[in-house]
Order: sequence, then structure tokens, then C-alpha cells
Amino acid sequence: MKKQAIKFSTSTTDFYFDASFNDLKSIVDQKQAIIITDENLFASHQKKFKGWKVIILKAGEAHKKQATVDTIIEQLIDFEADRKTILVGIGGGVVTDITGYTASIYMRGLSFGFIPTTLLAMVDASIGGKNGIDVGLYKNMVGVIRQPSFLLYDISFLKTLPDAEWINGFAEIIKHSCIRDAAMFKQLQQHDVKYYQRKKTDLQALVKRNAMLKAKVVQEDEFEKGDRKLLNYGHTLGHALENQYELSHGQAISIGMVYAAHLSQQITGFKQVKPIIEVLEQYELPTHSVFDTDKVFAVLKMDKKRERDTMNYVLLEKIGKGVVKPIQLEQLKSILEQG
Ligand SMILES: NC(=O)c1ccc[n+]([C@@H]2O[C@H](COP(=O)([O-])OP(=O)(O)OC[C@H]3O[C@@H](n4cnc5c(N)ncnc54)[C@H](O)[C@@H]3O)[C@@H](O)[C@H]2O)c1
Ligand SMILES: [Zn+2]
Repeated sequence: MKKQAIKFSTSTTDFYFDASFNDLKSIVDQKQAIIITDENLFASHQKKFKGWKVIILKAGEAHKKQATVDTIIEQLIDFEADRKTILVGIGGGVVTDITGYTASIYMRGLSFGFIPTTLLAMVDASIGGKNGIDVGLYKNMVGVIRQPSFLLYDISFLKTLPDAEWINGFAEIIKHSCIRDAAMFKQLQQHDVKYYQRKKTDLQALVKRNAMLKAKVVQEDEFEKGDRKLLNYGHTLGHALENQYELSHGQAISIGMVYAAHLSQQITGFKQVKPIIEVLEQYELPTHSVFDTDKVFAVLKMDKKRERDTMNYVLLEKIGKGVVKPIQLEQLKSILEQG
């Protein structure tokens, strides 16, 4: 099994690409490991979990909260988990975020690793060490930055992933190409979701390319002083829309990316709005929505990236080159209103 080690400021994460769930046994001691997964994963992949200690969570963002952490801690105590225990989160971003967080606080910190099972978790959520939970309506309000000791990639998990979740993953993949990888953008232009669902080797290569892209961005700026902010491309407006309308995360950031591209046109002279819209449409993502500008702006200006009357916004200079620029709130509002 090939291993790729990425060194972060205080620890190293081993990436096992092109691996299989069965390899887990050679990475961790089965007796010391406790798996955390959710009910959907457990139902679709039950056989895999035989012989492992497993904690099963209810699925979905609504359960990414302290009450769930409490039930995990109770079960860890029942399993007599101690400092030598390693927690293995197997699931989408909800499971990996909760697992990393619980591992970081139980007995002041256990080691943990992930097997991401959604496309989004493979290319984004499981990488970078941000682990946390929501508090009421506030997403990721409580958490830590702590890196997993390993990430195991078994893309056969994606066979059971619903199409809507594939599309969410592609929104982040397109985001990565826009901020950092023009060659990948070109590649994405030539294909669509169905293509990658069929072509296992191309999918594997795409997952790996995106995971490494994110890992590198994080490695260069683990504590988000600079370039890690680029990963928020499309997310400022995206989060405001996601909060108030019935949109998936991928749909919301897709609309956010189109707005940020328009904004870029005015501020950096960006000239490629059209190909961005086209590629998003090709991956079944919405590029426009009708919304209440005042309501959305009220949420948007509460974003963590605001400083008094300016907001640090992720823009593009060209496809493959993202930049963070301060923008006056007034200007942001007027562009929103032009819709
Ligand atoms: N830590 C980070 O840096 C970071 C980055 C991005 C997102 N996130 C977090 O990730 C979460 C979203 O992650 P997500 O999109 O993976 O959502 P999710 O974990 O809710 O998974 C989506 C759905 O797919 C199901 N599922 C997962 N894998 C499956 C499979 N292989 N087959 C069938 N069903 C499967 C899940 O049970 C769930 O119903 C959010 O909470 C977000 O805040 C974290
Ligand atoms: Zn996102």
C-alpha cells in the first residue's frame, strides 16, 4: 500500500490513496480502534464493519452538535477507551468533523484518522484539520484545528453515494480549479458527473489531485492567515444563501462562485465569467437564483471575514488564480442588487 506523508506544523498526516477499506487493519490495531460512522453508511456497508467496535450516529448536519458528541463520549467510556485508542471516522464531512472534534477533547486528545465516503469529504472536509460542531444556527461555531494521523481513500464507497451528493463534491472540485488549477479546469470542461461515475481511474486521479491541492493550500497556511482563505471562494454569498433558502451546499456555493466571478470582472478585470457559468451548468449546478437582496446582505455582512465596512472577498484574476481583496460593503451590495 502506497503512503504519501504530508507534514503540517505540529504533525504529519499519511494519505493512502487508491486503497481499500481492508487496508485499515494494517494501519491501525483493530483492538485499539473504534469506528465512528453514520446510520446510512452502516446500512449500506454493514459487512465491512464486522469485527470492529462501532459507534453509529444519526445522519445529517442536524446531528453535528454537542448532544451527539456527548453520546459518543458515553459510548467511548463504555468501550473503556483510553489514550491508546484511535478513533476512525468513516463517513461524510459530518462524521469526520465530529470524529476529529471528539477525538481532540476525549481524555484531552486521542489520535484519529478518517475514511471519507462522500466526494466532498474526500476532496475537502476530511483534509486540513478543522474539526467542529454547530451551535444552533451557527455552523462550525465550536471546534479545534488538529490534523488526522491518516486518511484512507477507498473510492468504492462512492458507488452508493446519491447523485445530489456527487454534485456537492463537484462544486468544491470546480472551486479548487478556479482558485489554483487552470489545467484541471480544462479537464473538467471536457467531462461531466456521469463520466466520472463511470471512469474509475479518472475519478481516482481527480480525487487525489483535489485532495493534494487542498492539503498543499493548508500546509502553506494552516491557521488561515493568508492563502487558506482562497478555499472560501464562493462561500461568502454561498453561506448566506444556504442559511435562508432550500439549497444544498454545492448549489449555494455555485451561485456564490458566479457572483464572485462577476465581482472579479469589476475589480480585477477578470474575463472568464462565461466558462465558469458553463462548467457549473455542465456539472448540474445552478448559477443564478432570485433572492431577497436585503435579507441576504444582512446575513452576508455578519460574515467572519468582515472588517468594519470592508469585507475580504475571494476573487479571481484568471481561472486558476484566486486572490483575496478587501471590498467596500456598499460596492458589494450594489453588485448584489444588479443581480
Ligand atoms: N472540516 C472542514 O474543513 C470541512 C470542509 C468542508 C465541509 N465540512 C463539513 O462537512 C459537512 C458536509 O459533508 P458531506 O457533504 O460529506 O455531508 P454528510 O456527511 O452529511 O453526508 C451526506 C449524506 O451522504 C450520506 N453518505 C455518506 N457517504 C455515503 C456513501 N458512501 N453512500 C451512501 N450515502 C453516504 C450521509 O449519511 C449523509 O446522509 C458539513 O458539516 C461541513 O461543515 C468541513
Ligand atoms: Zn464548501
